[in-house]
Amino acid sequence: MNEMSSDMSSPGMPGIDRLMARGAAFLGTRYAVMGGAMSWVSERNLVAALSNAGAFGVIACGAMEPDRLAQEIAGTQALTQKPFGVNLITMHPRLDQLVDVCLEAKVGHIVFAGGIPPGGAIKKAKEGGAKVVCFAPALALAKKLVRSGADALVIEGSEAGGHIGPVSLTVLAQEILPHVRDVPVFVAGGIGRGEAILSYLEMGAAGVQLGTRFVCATESIAHPKFKQAFLRGNARDAMPTVQLDERFPVIPVRALQNEGTKRFVEHQAKVLARFLAGEVAKDAAQLEIEHFWAGALRRAVIDGDVEQGSLMAGQSVGMVGKEQPAAEIMAELMAQAAAALDARRAQMNNS
Ligand SMILES: Cc1cc2nc3c(=O)[nH]c(=O)nc-3n(C[C@H](O)[C@H](O)[C@H](O)COP(=O)(O)O)c2cc1C
Repeated sequence: MNEMSSDMSSPGMPGIDRLMARGAAFLGTRYAVMGGAMSWVSERNLVAALSNAGAFGVIACGAMEPDRLAQEIAGTQALTQKPFGVNLITMHPRLDQLVDVCLEAKVGHIVFAGGIPPGGAIKKAKEGGAKVVCFAPALALAKKLVRSGADALVIEGSEAGGHIGPVSLTVLAQEILPHVRDVPVFVAGGIGRGEAILSYLEMGAAGVQLGTRFVCATESIAHPKFKQAFLRGNARDAMPTVQLDERFPVIPVRALQNEGTKRFVEHQAKVLARFLAGEVAKDAAQLEIEHFWAGALRRAVIDGDVEQGSLMAGQSVGMVGKEQPAAEIMAELMAQAAAALDARRAQMNNS
């Protein structure tokens, strides 16, 4: 079938709608598809475009201060009437005020990322009327987050772009989906086509979250050179950060390899040599290593410095084929999922 044909015309689409019903009802959207928050990329234009296309856009607050976040939310509200969410990083020093900003602007869903949110933040968000979404890196934590009040969970496999855990989505899905039924669970990491969306829905996911696949949306403000890097990139180019010495841990980030990733290894080697020569203390050496990437995502996404900046990307980058409107990407994904469901039914009927 033509992948661009209207999703409504596919006999498989009502089945996809049923599989997505719980997730879509939770998000208040046509599709149970979240646009994973991407720092610098997920601002008003992409977020509104995704929500207008029936998905659920999520603003990446990142390091924004409360005033700046309030502006971004208002800017998004001016571009869409549809629901969208805000992703807050739990270690932000002004997390409480950021929650207040979301509540004042009547944002319906707050996604806490980057660690287990403090209980107070979950409580405050819920009492203020927002639904709370948390990232669960393992089954025990998933259960704990549900007990703490999370209304939905995202499980993100190591195939994803950006900061990653050690376990693939294939395994995390088996570990968590059969055992968490009280809240909807969205799955993320490495999803680039509708067939994969269908398979996770069949495993019990309420919906999916995609990041990499949306970077080259026409509405995304990412620099043309950043988009070019995604259009050229293959799954094998999107690698986790290399750590040179276990005494100096680095946070694993999956990104396209470039001059910056090579220089980072050299940088670690130089700092390590100075540490071994007694020229720099351990804490200071660790900080020097951590500071290497400061501002690097912004340099790549906004300034287009694709050589030295950070090209955070998931393994699904190989499935990003062209720049196209968010609505077209969504139509393509849904058509693939519906066609896959049709094919499966035909196969079952023939056997
Ligand atoms: C460029 C980039 C920046 C990201 N920034 C964030 C972020 O600020 N906060 C966050 O929770 N996740 C961030 N992510 C992860 C996405 O929200 C999403 O979970 C991930 O991209 C899903 O995997 P996929 O890229 O394979 O689709 C980022 C991902 C990318 C590619």
